[in-house]
Amino acid sequence: PTIYRKDYTPPSYWVRTVEMGFDLDPSATRVATRMTLARNPASSEQAVVLHGEELELVQIRLNGTNLSKRDYKLADGILRIPTKAEDITLEIETLIRPDKNTSLMGLYVSNGNFFTQCEAEGFRKITYFPDRPDVMAQYTVMLRGDKKKYPVLLSNGNLIEQGDLGDGRHYALWEDPFKKPSYLFALVAGQLVCQERTERLKSGRKALLQVWVEEGNLDKTQHAMDSLVNSIHWDEERYGLELDLDRFMIVAVGDFNMGAMENKGLNIFNTKFVLANPRIATDTDYANIEAVVGHEYFHNWTGNRVTCRDWFQLSLKEGLTVFRDQEFSADMIGTDSGRAVKRIDDVRVLRQAQFPEDAGPMAHPVRPDSFVEISNFYTVTIYEKGAEVVRMYQTLLGRDGFRKGMDLYFERHDGRAVECDDFRAAMMDANGRDLTQFERWYSQAGTPRVKVTTSYDAAQKTYDITLAQSCPPTPGQAKKLPFHIPVAVGLLDGQGKDMPLSLNGHSGQPETLVLELTATQQTFRFTNVAEKPVPSLLRNFSAPVVLEYDYSDEDLAFLMAHDSDAFNRWEAGQRLATRRLLALTETAQQAGSTLSVDVALSDSLRASLNDQSLDPAFRETVLTLPAETVIAEQMEVIDPQAIHTARRFLRLSLAQDLRKDFSAIYKANQTDGAYSPDAASSGKRALKNLALSYLAELDDADAHTLAQAQYDAANNMTDRMASLAALANSQAPGKAAALAKFYSDFELEPLVIDKWFSLQAMARTTDVAAVRTLMKHPAFSIKNPNRARSLIFSFCNGNPSRFHAADGSGYAFWAEQVIALDAINPQVAARLARSLDRWRKYAPALQAKMRTALQQVADTAKLSKDTREVVTKSLAAN
Ligand code: ARG
Ligand code: ZN
Repeated sequence: PTIYRKDYTPPSYWVRTVEMGFDLDPSATRVATRMTLARNPASSEQAVVLHGEELELVQIRLNGTNLSKRDYKLADGILRIPTKAEDITLEIETLIRPDKNTSLMGLYVSNGNFFTQCEAEGFRKITYFPDRPDVMAQYTVMLRGDKKKYPVLLSNGNLIEQGDLGDGRHYALWEDPFKKPSYLFALVAGQLVCQERTERLKSGRKALLQVWVEEGNLDKTQHAMDSLVNSIHWDEERYGLELDLDRFMIVAVGDFNMGAMENKGLNIFNTKFVLANPRIATDTDYANIEAVVGHEYFHNWTGNRVTCRDWFQLSLKEGLTVFRDQEFSADMIGTDSGRAVKRIDDVRVLRQAQFPEDAGPMAHPVRPDSFVEISNFYTVTIYEKGAEVVRMYQTLLGRDGFRKGMDLYFERHDGRAVECDDFRAAMMDANGRDLTQFERWYSQAGTPRVKVTTSYDAAQKTYDITLAQSCPPTPGQAKKLPFHIPVAVGLLDGQGKDMPLSLNGHSGQPETLVLELTATQQTFRFTNVAEKPVPSLLRNFSAPVVLEYDYSDEDLAFLMAHDSDAFNRWEAGQRLATRRLLALTETAQQAGSTLSVDVALSDSLRASLNDQSLDPAFRETVLTLPAETVIAEQMEVIDPQAIHTARRFLRLSLAQDLRKDFSAIYKANQTDGAYSPDAASSGKRALKNLALSYLAELDDADAHTLAQAQYDAANNMTDRMASLAALANSQAPGKAAALAKFYSDFELEPLVIDKWFSLQAMARTTDVAAVRTLMKHPAFSIKNPNRARSLIFSFCNGNPSRFHAADGSGYAFWAEQVIALDAINPQVAARLARSLDRWRKYAPALQAKMRTALQQVADTAKLSKDTREVVTKSLAAN
């Protein structure tokens, strides 16, 4: 059944305190819960309403009296106890089977240890409870278990007491001083070891920080610990927010549905976002760990101290916290150019994943109006577009204004469960600004288009910029009202310098001005414009929109060379490359055609490649062509084979044109000595490995030798993976041997074996048959989400030309895997189900085969509501 935002009703009872006792046993864990509740006068419901799923109810007592089946109603996951009492005490005992829990929601076992995941609705798989985020309570948790099997017993908050039970078991008592919603509950038990340190907080208080991992992984915890320390101090400095606990723990687990979870004081992480050393982790892994550690830590204020009233408000905490982690990562790099590279990376994610989502059958507003399964709404729209929406406040209000808004937000709402509207109100009120129209970013789905036209009047020395906005229809929203769009612009003179700007007669403006587009169409007049400028539009990607302007090739080359806004220098190159790629794709669709490209693009790219004034990391982003999925979104009808052919052709011709340059860059950007993941070193490696990947396009003996030599000499995983990828996508004679050696060298490192699967899944030569063969490899397991993602997802989402094979074999494979995964883990299955989202955008022959595969999944009798929601919405008439 669909749940609607408009149907929100307050809970009938508040929960004041929760005491829980766990007798940990993989096949029968007994959970005893005692809670005190108080009637909520705002509710007319005369019953306590509790959620519960897959629980064995042992007994239930109300104010000390056993309830019999006649005293309550249990149906469809809801336990309803009729009562009008003001204050009550409920005692509930349940039995659960963590070892049979393959959904990885609630309490489950991973490699013999216990872990929990409660967001969004996993707590109800532990006990009956009003499992909704607006019910916040204070928790005390007693853990009991076998001393040998589970020497470590962790839960939220502070450790109050621990001891021996005499019967081979021991116990630990934990108390969380802060009230919290049930989705932030966590426990961990098992054989784990930790790195710890005591850190002095801004106020002078001290906190104990721990990173817990399985034995043998302690040498991979330093980067996570450093990232945690940096996060703590960054939040103190940038937002005046201090850690509110005496103890803060991070625990790594190898079986995890998502990236990580911000449980109060006990963050639980996918190993992928904790474990790192130069032997196993790439530069990207190091950066991701820093970002995710930051993200979960920042949730302590944005999410935990101030939480969501209901799950429709998810972006209130996620969009804001992603924005915060993005800013943290940018500040950790420190340089302007580094910030630009980070911004480019974030915008790439938005364009590759969020824009397609916003244009497809699962499109939803940042604050959705309805859902079937909330797990399906942990999306790039809620997270990344949500972060862009938060960023726009900062663009509109300035950094200081944004900070004032944040301060007011905490002043008003600390300890409460609130709505996205409350955040906007705090931003408005703290700055005395009307942001009413800005609400549409929350309520309307779809990516707005901003069409720009300009005109220069040489006699009057005026320059007009006209902005016109529109937004395509999305499911349930045919017509859109105008958005409040900040469009940052600058004007370049003939020398490529920023012109001083004067708008509407006001002079002395800065070199970048934020135009506020609020109507369907608006014209902004700049005066005293001495010469016809080249406009630099949407600087730093000031709004999540598609900006259309009729730039000439010369304008784009000029912006690439001169724009003071680094993001737009990159953007100009992307526009130029996209133009060529779309033309090549069109040619590739004509049978018997030969592809060709002019030298203008390679000339511009050569200039950037060799521009010593630019950081290597930035040059790497300029030389990276738009992804196949980004090209696809710009086509009326997607032709994956033609896109692939076009992009490969362009890469090959760039490799030929710039061969000498790439060789020189390769030599000049070696990072000698001990590995360090800092921005300067990783930037050099990125540029060097970009050069390698272009040279590898030539697929000649020189390229093979270069890749093989790098592989053999590599002292870090970044260089190793880059050279292995070059070999795997080539005809190099040493290719099979390198893949085999990599496997045997890293057989004992699951995260590295994931890379091994994923690299092969995305290799050009890998077709469905090859993926099926890899699935038979002894190291493959569909039950481990990371492993399933590394092979199945990497192929379906990361190898478009093979996945979309004309015979439909990729789609049949997809349907098979969705159905198989659904029986094990609905959340992971529903993610994979998203791979055919955009089926209506393809040529009729492919569409028909995709529809058949979608229908096959939809016709499966026993399907989770997660997967069913995705395939039903995909198949629905648009
Ligand atoms: N709140 C977590 C984060 O963003 C994500 C948890 C998602 N869990 C889920 N079952 N969907 O850090
Ligand atoms: Zn989050």
